[in-house]
Amino acid sequence: MKNVRVIDSPVVLMNLCTMRDKNTDSQGVRIATRKITRCLLYEASKNLPLVERDVTTPLTTFKAKTVDPDINLIISPILRAGLIFTDEAIDILPQACIRHIGMYRDEETLKPVWYYNKVPMDAPNPEKFYVYITDPMLATGNSLLEAIRLYTDKGIPIENIKCICIIAAPQGIENIHKNFPEVEIITASVDEGLNEKGYIVPGMGDAGDRIFNT
Ligand code: URA
Repeated sequence: MKNVRVIDSPVVLMNLCTMRDKNTDSQGVRIATRKITRCLLYEASKNLPLVERDVTTPLTTFKAKTVDPDINLIISPILRAGLIFTDEAIDILPQACIRHIGMYRDEETLKPVWYYNKVPMDAPNPEKFYVYITDPMLATGNSLLEAIRLYTDKGIPIENIKCICIIAAPQGIENIHKNFPEVEIITASVDEGLNEKGYIVPGMGDAGDRIFNT
């Protein structure tokens, strides 16, 4: 599938198996999920521009590569389940800022309803912005679409935006790529599809409920 990167290393698969299992308790789901988020974030970070800086080791001075400190890196979790990415994200990408996006899914229409938006109103030098939108479940893709639009409306290049989802439904991927063919989706699994209530099958059930024990 074009612009879908499936990260199915054994470490990811082992933790995916744990988080899907209905007998895994909430703490177990959180631990397994965080491990996967870290692997997916590592993959996403491959698009970050590098610069060289002089570093002195105990042996010599040389030019070492590091992430360009002048970029604006945004992690944008879609509330509430997307929050599970944030601790790992600021741990491995300390220069990132977290811009929360609050949307819930109307259970009848399956359309997103806004309730919170912490995305900046303007982005000078938009080409210097890199955005990772995080949501463990890519189901219909409607919330993710709204989130992508928030950033493209500010002029941020679509190649600089990545969607990081642990489990994706083919319908959601199609919906995103119909509107933004160039956006890359990084996921641990493309599942069979959606049921009549919009849940991913086999999926993991309601990610927010399972992560937050509600
Ligand atoms: N959101 C979830 O939490 N789970 C699904 O299966 C679909 C959307």
